[in-house]
Amino acid sequence: MQRQPRILMCPPDYYGIEYEINPWMNRARGSSRERARQQWQQLRDTLVDLGVVVELLQPQEGLPDLVFTANAGLIHGNRFFSSHFRHEERARESPHFDSWFAERGFSVEHLPEEMYFEGAGDALFCGPALFAGYRIRSDIQGHQYLGGLLRVQVLPLELINAYFYHLDTCFCPLAPGEALWYPEAFDAYGRRVIENHIPRLIAANEAEARCFGCNAVVVGKTVVLNAGCTNLASDLESMGYTTRSVELDEFIKSGGSAKCLTLRLDGEEAAQWT
Ligand code: ARG
Repeated sequence: MQRQPRILMCPPDYYGIEYEINPWMNRARGSSRERARQQWQQLRDTLVDLGVVVELLQPQEGLPDLVFTANAGLIHGNRFFSSHFRHEERARESPHFDSWFAERGFSVEHLPEEMYFEGAGDALFCGPALFAGYRIRSDIQGHQYLGGLLRVQVLPLELINAYFYHLDTCFCPLAPGEALWYPEAFDAYGRRVIENHIPRLIAANEAEARCFGCNAVVVGKTVVLNAGCTNLASDLESMGYTTRSVELDEFIKSGGSAKCLTLRLDGEEAAQWT
C-alpha cells in the first residue's frame, strides 16, 4: 500500500520582509500579506489535492520567516535534527520547531554549538547519500557530523552564488538517481559530484532558476513548481512527471518558494532510508 505523504507548513499570518539576510530580501519593497496568504493557501490546497496530509505549525508574531518550515531541521525516521541558524533573526524560530516535534514524539537532537546547520534547506537525500550545501548558511562540519551519526555518505557541495544561498534553491532530488538543478550555483567540483552521482539530471536555465524552479515539492510522480517555469515543466513531463504550478512570488521576495514552505515529515520522495 502507498504511504500517505505528510508535510509540515506554517500559515503566513506574520510573514513579511522585516530584515535582509539574503539578496532577495528588500525591506523597502516589502511584501503583501494578503497576496502571500492567498498564494500559501493555493500551495496547501494543491498538496492536499495530491493526497498529502498537511500538518500545521502555529505562526508567531515577530517571526516572519517561520513559514519556511524546510529550515526547521533534518528528519531521519523518528529523529529531528534541529537547525542551528546562522542569523539571530531566524535562530529564534528553533524553540517553536523543537516543541512541535517533541510534542509529536520525535527525538529532538541538536548539533554541537559551533556548527551552523539550516536543516532540509541545505541537506537533501538523493538515494542513499546526503547532498549537503555549505558555506553561505550551513557549515561543512555540521553535515559531516550528521553523516557520522546516521552512517550515511555526505557529499558536500559548496554554494558560490549568494542568490542560491540554500541548496534547495538550486538542487531538487526527484527520485534516487534523478534531480533538478541549476549548475551555475556550484563550483566545478560540486558540479562534478552531482553529475557523477545522479545519472538523470534536468538543468534549469538562469531565468527559471531565478524563478525558483529548483525549489520544487515532489509528491510521488508529481512536481509542484513555482509558476513561470515552462521549460522545466516540459523536461519533467518528458521524464514521466506530472507538474502543477503555483504562483509564489510573494515568497520569492524573501528568497523562498514551494519547497522552502514545506518540510516532508515522512522522508523526501528521493530518500532511500524511507
Ligand atoms: N528569508 C529566509 C532566509 O533567508 C528564506 C528561507 C528560504 N528557505 C529555504 N529553505 N531556502 O532564511
